Amino acid sequence: MRNAYGAFARYYDYLGWDKFAKDAAVRLKAFFRLRCEKPLTILDFACGTGELEKTLAGSGIKFTGVDASSEMLRIARGKCRGVKFVQGDVATIRLGKKFDMVLFLFYSANHMNSRSHLLRVFKNARHHLREDGYFIFDFLTAIGLERWEHIDIRQKKEFTVITNGFYYPDELKADIFIEAFVKKGKLYDRVFQKVAARTYPPSDILKGLATSGFEKILASSYNPVEEIEEASRLWFVCS
Ligand SMILES: C[S@@+](CC[C@H](N)C(=O)[O-])C[C@H]1O[C@@H](n2cnc3c(N)ncnc32)[C@H](O)[C@@H]1O
Repeated sequence: MRNAYGAFARYYDYLGWDKFAKDAAVRLKAFFRLRCEKPLTILDFACGTGELEKTLAGSGIKFTGVDASSEMLRIARGKCRGVKFVQGDVATIRLGKKFDMVLFLFYSANHMNSRSHLLRVFKNARHHLREDGYFIFDFLTAIGLERWEHIDIRQKKEFTVITNGFYYPDELKADIFIEAFVKKGKLYDRVFQKVAARTYPPSDILKGLATSGFEKILASSYNPVEEIEEASRLWFVCS
């Protein structure tokens, strides 16, 4: 699997990568309020370190998290007692039950190896949903991936993180190389992570969702100050 999130897993939250899940929890709570109903069960595809489960603990929602990385799942299990976490590929895993909601967050959809891999995830999400359930995910557009092309150095007392990103417009692909030095007493622990992402035209995503059995698809710009045509990240709500 290309995005193993191995050694990096132990610093994922510490370096601030848990922020998206925290923000997504606020957004989801607003969605539940708007619909005057909360899902009883949520299947969290590519759940990572289980930050969403931790943030929504006590809401009465029963979560099942699936992730390919054993290291990410080890962190998730340590943080969220009583949540079921399963290791597997979200394109192929079969859990033998249906859920009120399936989530697939923080550009996890951009991590899938190919268009057909992503299509299989859409079909698998539909397979695991109750008839009237919702599938919600975010997706980085070409504008979003283009922003990966930069070098950034974040320096704090506790760590230094060097991020070097490349965007390949002809292939609609991007790679980001993250090197973190985390202070451990007088020494530094070094971790390195390559993260690869792909994007496709939004029309392809809409077509893929429709062929996977979703009848109602609402796409909006994740960032309200970006018009949908200029959106760097899209937010899909499908049923
Ligand atoms: C950017 S992280 C997002 C994690 C979490 N959803 C969050 O909001 O922090 C992407 C996650 O996708 C997982 N992943 C990548 N490919 C996967 C696959 N085919 N099946 C399951 N998990 C996968 C990685 O292990 C990683 O935990």
